Amino acid sequence: MKKRGIILTSVAALAAALAGYLTFENEALTVTPYEFSSQALPEAFDGFKICHLSDIHVKSALRKYPRLIKKVAKLSPDIIVITGDLLDSRRSDLQTALSLAETLTDIAPVYYVTGNHEESLPIEDYTGLMSSLSDMGVHLMDSRTEKIYRGENGEYINVSGIFDSPHFTVNKASEMFDENAFDLFLAHRPQFAAGYARAGADLTLSGHAHGGQMRIPFVGGLIAPDQWFFPEYSEGMHRFGDRATVISRGIGNSLIPFRINNRPEIVTVTLKTAG
Ligand SMILES: [Fe+2]
Repeated sequence: MKKRGIILTSVAALAAALAGYLTFENEALTVTPYEFSSQALPEAFDGFKICHLSDIHVKSALRKYPRLIKKVAKLSPDIIVITGDLLDSRRSDLQTALSLAETLTDIAPVYYVTGNHEESLPIEDYTGLMSSLSDMGVHLMDSRTEKIYRGENGEYINVSGIFDSPHFTVNKASEMFDENAFDLFLAHRPQFAAGYARAGADLTLSGHAHGGQMRIPFVGGLIAPDQWFFPEYSEGMHRFGDRATVISRGIGNSLIPFRINNRPEIVTVTLKTAG
């Protein structure tokens, strides 16, 4: 009886420790800073700071909002980009998604592309979300390009994006890019990272992989949508010559409700002029 009591107490203590660890892993919010240097970047954009948020899946991240907003504001970004899955199609919460987006627009201009979850919403929710985001001034980057100007000499960079699709065509996307300008590109799915660079994007920001959900030391992420086990593109900066894709581990969760060794992150990329 005594032995049974010790076993039960130990199991309960282990379960409590595991629950505490998993809660901490979900609720933590780290900031991962990157720098990206490019010869294509105009002088006026040296030091331009992008705050990159991805895969917020709003309902799974409710408790993080006050910290998320505080941290983003403290970073003082020049622009904020959201690379899809602002909400979860299984547990959509349009009002929270919209109120978060609106708060972010008070901090800096917000550029947005959809993820697979927005694209799976019922049509009336989808159109409602898009028109509300547009009304509050969020830049909807649905296969289009905008210029951002800085400095007194009309220097600019291009921002382009695609709404989520399981397919990516290099030739079609290349029409969005200008080889004489710096092209920032937003696309939810990271598995096409090499294609984004081939198409002409200098810097692409992506998400979707949730860091591989569980990160194994010296190995990397365990599983990601579309790439399945041991995904090549699950987080971090991947270089393709003088171009790169930065993949966010995301902020919320979707089908798999926990993370291991894979804390949610706010990514920043500071642009630098090169040589
Ligand atoms: Fe996601």
